[in-house]
Amino acid sequence: MKFHLSLFVIIGIIFGIKLEGCQCKVVQFIFGDSLSDVGNNKYLSKSLAQASLPWYGIDFGNGLPNGRFSNGRTVADIIGDNMGLPRPPAFLDPSLTEDVILENGVNYASGGGGILNETGSYFIQRFSLYKQIELFQGTQELIRSRVGKDEAEKFFQEARYVVALGSNDFINNYLMPVYSDSWTYNDETFVNYLMGTLREQLKLLHGLGARQLMVFGLGPMGCIPLQRVLSTSGDCQDRTNKLAIRFNQAGSKLIDELQKQLPNSSYRFGDAYDVVNDVISNPNKFGFQNSDSPCCSFGNIRPALTCIPASKLCKDRSKYVFWDEYHPSDRANELIANELIKKFGFMRADQTNPPSPSPAIAPSSNH
Ligand SMILES: *[C@@H]1O[C@H](CO)[C@@H](O)[C@H](O)[C@H]1NC(C)=O
Ligand SMILES: *[C@@H]1O[C@H](CO)[C@@H](O)[C@H](O)[C@H]1NC(C)=O
Repeated sequence: MKFHLSLFVIIGIIFGIKLEGCQCKVVQFIFGDSLSDVGNNKYLSKSLAQASLPWYGIDFGNGLPNGRFSNGRTVADIIGDNMGLPRPPAFLDPSLTEDVILENGVNYASGGGGILNETGSYFIQRFSLYKQIELFQGTQELIRSRVGKDEAEKFFQEARYVVALGSNDFINNYLMPVYSDSWTYNDETFVNYLMGTLREQLKLLHGLGARQLMVFGLGPMGCIPLQRVLSTSGDCQDRTNKLAIRFNQAGSKLIDELQKQLPNSSYRFGDAYDVVNDVISNPNKFGFQNSDSPCCSFGNIRPALTCIPASKLCKDRSKYVFWDEYHPSDRANELIANELIKKFGFMRADQTNPPSPSPAIAPSSNH
């Protein structure tokens, strides 16, 4: 009897220790648009924002389309690799289970999505940032029922968060006359509207446990090939670039404020505007040969909505800044990621998980 009792106590102690320390890994939760999508839109069958055809993914893993809107890695892939963190699978990936989430995190990013609900409605289906946060809340419930409330709380507080949206709010909303936001707001009030919305979203995420969070700013989006074809000269759209600068200034200020206001938060804002602008003006200086047209292009019929099997590819994909009309190439993403890593300054999560040594190669489990 006495023996049984002490055994029970010992078991209790062991069990107690296990509950106290969080057994879970540090993983990432990524919220974003096509620049960070790793396959969600592939499963949104009605979405017009798709990267499901060749030649997307040609420099990634087996070379088949994997849902990334690039020939290779996304900026978030590269930053996560550098932090020693696993690449989180797409939320809609059918192989996503609680165990996969505990090991790898989740990526909710969706092509066409924006900070605003109304952004990208033209694409019919996409996850806006509010929708992505709603999906994250569902993930939290799953994990709570799997590992318990306390362990789940630690897991979500130790995780790293990425929020990278905003360009669609301009390109596929404010700058398009079919959207009512384009006539309801002016440049200043629209950016204020975005910031007010983003503030609520980031506070919501903090309430859900996000403590270490990076917000990516915008690049010179007036220089994407799609914007250049709007003028006969093919120059960058100056007004669009000025909007990106305005967004970055306001975003940086917002994140500084939130970081002071939200308990235990380590929130960072970083953009690669200046370095990308430099690359676009002086491509040769950075080893590029072309910074104004897409590597994957449908001849003279421009802009094509996406890269398609009938498109022609440039000879050397590492020499093009842009992969398609909207999205940078793997090589440009690497440059952007390196700049953001410098700006964020904090980084490596743990040493047990070395960064993936190979450039555009996915872990074998990846699609
Ligand atoms: C945005 O969409 C979410 C659902 O995804 C909804 O809960 C929220 O009320 C919407 N917000 C606005 C301002 O329309
Ligand atoms: C902040 O961190 C302290 C120390 O770890 C903890 O006691 C407190 O509950 C945390 N507050 C929030 C809001 O997370």
